[in-house]
Amino acid sequence: MANQGVHDPINTGRRRFLTATTAVVGAVGAGFAAVPFIKSWNPSARAKLAGAPVTADITGLAEGQRLILEWRGQPIWIVKRSKAILDALPTLDGHLRDPKSDNKDQQPAYITGELRSIKPDISVLVGLCTHLGCSPEMKAEIRPEPFDPEWKGGYFCPCHKSRFDMAGRVFQGVPAPINLLVPPHHYENDNTIVIGVDPAKGA
Ligand code: FES
Repeated sequence: MANQGVHDPINTGRRRFLTATTAVVGAVGAGFAAVPFIKSWNPSARAKLAGAPVTADITGLAEGQRLILEWRGQPIWIVKRSKAILDALPTLDGHLRDPKSDNKDQQPAYITGELRSIKPDISVLVGLCTHLGCSPEMKAEIRPEPFDPEWKGGYFCPCHKSRFDMAGRVFQGVPAPINLLVPPHHYENDNTIVIGVDPAKGA
């Protein structure tokens, strides 16, 4: 299947997905017991859909806006970042737990550097906190916030106050252990992103 791989998030969304998958397999097992001469089995349409790639059209996405999709039962955020936000990202490195994203489980191998994206301005993230799976709030403006007077834009998780920058990099001293995950994805053309397929396997 094209979108299987090592980038599966470790979070509640992932656990829900695995639970559903297990339920499907269990039902198939019962079918084999009742009809022992079935020669092959094709995954159900529902099982195929659960892992299918998702396509996003970002033609109308303006700076500061976020498009939210669902892929494998998880929210996927596509955010267009302004130049001010991009300029601020490197200045945050000293406050982050893993500024260079050295933990390779957090993103595909082709996602590197402070921006953590294929195109500088477009960020694609799994929108689930890496602590216990809450969905963080987007606080995309550079302005003082109650939880950080020097806020440079990012994501704030209200559950236990984890903070991430606009590249999904986690701050030091918060419960979330790793950066927000980046799903496998590629650009089919300038304004079409396919979530769930790496560039080498895509267009
Ligand atoms: S779930 Fe986000 S900080 Fe705990």
